[in-house]
Amino acid sequence: MFEKIRSLIFKFDPEKAHDLAIHALKTNIVPVKVKNYECLKVKFLEKEIPNPIGIAAGFDKNAEVYNSLFKLGFGFVEVGTITPEPQYGNLKPRVFRLEEDEALINRLGFNNIGSDKASENIQKNLPTGLLGINIGPNKDTKNRLDDYLKCLRRLNNLSDYITINISSPNTENLRSFHNPKELDELLKAINEEKIKINSSVQIAVKIAPDLKFSDLDVIGNILLKNHIKFVIISNTSDGTRDNLKNINKFEKGGLSGKPIEEKSNLLIKEFYKIFNNKIKIIGVGGVDSGKSAYDKFISGASYIQLYTGMVYQGPNIVNKISSELNDILISNGNKNIQELIGSV
Ligand SMILES: Cc1cc2nc3c(=O)[nH]c(=O)nc-3n(C[C@H](O)[C@H](O)[C@H](O)COP(=O)(O)O)c2cc1C
Repeated sequence: MFEKIRSLIFKFDPEKAHDLAIHALKTNIVPVKVKNYECLKVKFLEKEIPNPIGIAAGFDKNAEVYNSLFKLGFGFVEVGTITPEPQYGNLKPRVFRLEEDEALINRLGFNNIGSDKASENIQKNLPTGLLGINIGPNKDTKNRLDDYLKCLRRLNNLSDYITINISSPNTENLRSFHNPKELDELLKAINEEKIKINSSVQIAVKIAPDLKFSDLDVIGNILLKNHIKFVIISNTSDGTRDNLKNINKFEKGGLSGKPIEEKSNLLIKEFYKIFNNKIKIIGVGGVDSGKSAYDKFISGASYIQLYTGMVYQGPNIVNKISSELNDILISNGNKNIQELIGSV
């Protein structure tokens, strides 16, 4: 069904097509019949969720359609990135399809309605499943660290976890928070703020795929020291695009989808060793099938997320991945998806 309408959808500018998808989800006109599998049921924090497949940040930037996304079968949803104040983001066009590469490039730049309105949206429409909120600083802020704290204060009691996004390539120098000193200061401040406001929300940190392998130990140990619960690996890539086919490869922005899959898996494998099960990994990058999901779990991810896969495969993607994963587990003789984690 989706394959037939995909060519029609792809006639629209990608951001326009996304706006139409959000509209369709708001009006609940996306017909998907969800099938759950016993072997995919997992625990996430204290909650049992139907499967470990989440929708990545950036799809529901303004916390408008998370309950419709649960109805598509997603086991958890991460909304955002939300900044303290509303912001327009970069000039359009700012999202590009690379069809032959099954990829996207975006330079949206944290376009969102801001933390007050996002918070109102969530309070008016309480989540029916497990919700994460991804936060970041405004482009023109005087104090980036303080922006994370403002969002934490505003949003901490509305979600199961809060993601500290330090890895968008579209906010200048945001990735400098990967520097050990800056990262440590940021996470310390987050933990102190949590104590001040008496919040028990769990913290995830979302990292870039373009890190040097020689830096991973130091970064990993700072995350461990600051009692981070989840690390999301990874955001989009600003690495080289020489091997891509589509002409849009020259557009500035973050690359997502198939071309970053291997990069993200390698990073997951390395961090899995460093974390030694003390921090759980949420694996993201190029997931669009049971096999690609399987590769994330055996690399060391406890949960996975996707975005670009849904653009190319449509709203039935969770059903498709679940059914293919179920087949893989049966043929491997595994009873539950958790048996796969880090088994590469
Ligand atoms: C159009 C678009 C917008 C995105 N916006 C955000 C965002 O606001 N915050 C964030 O942390 N990640 C954002 N991402 C990154 C995704 O969450 C994900 O980490 C990345 O796309 C890799 O996964 P994928 O290959 O399944 O798309 C965005 C990705 C896309 C394609």
